[in-house]
Amino acid sequence: MTRTHRIASIPGDGIGPEVVDVARSAVDLLAQQEGFGIDWIDFDWGSEFYRRYGRMMPESGLDELAETDAIFFGAVGAPDISDAVTLWGLLIPIRREFGQYVNLRPAKHVDGLAGPLKNPDGIDLIIVRENSEGEYSELGGRFGRGTPQEFASQDAVFSRHGIERITTYAAHLARKRSGRITSVTKSNGIIHSMTFWDEVVNEIAAEHDDLTWRSVLVDAMSAELVLKPQSHDVIVCSNLFGDILSDLASATIGSLGLAASGNINPERTAPSMFESVHGSAPDIAGQGIANPLAQVSSAAMMLDHLGEQSAAKRLNDAVDSMLRSGQVTQDLGGSLDTKGAEEALLAVLSQ
Ligand code: NAI
Ligand code: MG
Repeated sequence: MTRTHRIASIPGDGIGPEVVDVARSAVDLLAQQEGFGIDWIDFDWGSEFYRRYGRMMPESGLDELAETDAIFFGAVGAPDISDAVTLWGLLIPIRREFGQYVNLRPAKHVDGLAGPLKNPDGIDLIIVRENSEGEYSELGGRFGRGTPQEFASQDAVFSRHGIERITTYAAHLARKRSGRITSVTKSNGIIHSMTFWDEVVNEIAAEHDDLTWRSVLVDAMSAELVLKPQSHDVIVCSNLFGDILSDLASATIGSLGLAASGNINPERTAPSMFESVHGSAPDIAGQGIANPLAQVSSAAMMLDHLGEQSAAKRLNDAVDSMLRSGQVTQDLGGSLDTKGAEEALLAVLSQ
């Protein structure tokens, strides 16, 4: 065995374990075929763990994860536990402590896939979302609780360092793709942080003047993603704008059940984390009908990050081939259940 990757597996809640199982079988098969090793390290963290121990993960959780090469994450979220507990007790600490300041969320149209758009041909974009600061900050508070004067305040935090590094990452990515890059802003309304964002983005753009840069207001951008998504390739945005626009972008190609993502530490000083964009889907959990392809595509992003480009490409091609031939689950109008999708995927990979 030439090389072995140590992967932390955190399936989490709801459909998380159902879709992680499928993706892991595909990765194991690819590892065997391509001659590398995968050492899965299982963590049963999530809402069940919380009900038992009052925490989403043990106190030593982050230290245990720090020893691994990557983290493969399903979903968290349970109807009876606040999202503030589940997300801020597990997912957000991992993103922040491990310097995963890039959140990559691709959206690509594949022939044969019916989405809500009349003309989805040629949609192939990737959202580069700032993942560590911005609007999702802990600065602020509630004041005058219970009084008629009660108010809440939440400060957005934008640092020069934070804007520079996310924009630079997006620029390098754009150079590997079409050379087109769009910065999303709202400097006509958010006059302090977003004008700062524009200024720093312009400085980075000047250092990468071989690329074609555009700056688009977030409101106009949401319309463009519906009306002419093909005009965009790499899209760099703040934490909040990226969160919203990536759901919109994934909806244009068909289903949340297809949207993959990576939380990347580009300097590789700590593991990166790969996860489907969708949540734990309590409405369909346990029925065996979840679409596993978002989790599978997230595994492909992970393999690419680990340097297994050939395996990553084969996995992406296998997903495309299933979509093209209509071997899909019910959310995409197909007839397969999760197990059936797994069998179809492994069959494509074995051809
Ligand atoms: P969701 O993504 O879990 O589900 C939204 C809708 O899409 C549901 O109707 C669901 O059945 C469907 N869906 C999602 N993934 C699917 C798949 N793979 N195959 C077929 N259908 C699929 O979002 P929702 O319902 O807003 O949130 C449920 C829980 O998940 C909440 O507790 C939420 O906080 C959490 N959540 C966790 C995330 C994470 O772990 N990264 C991300 C988003 C939500
Ligand atoms: Mg979201």
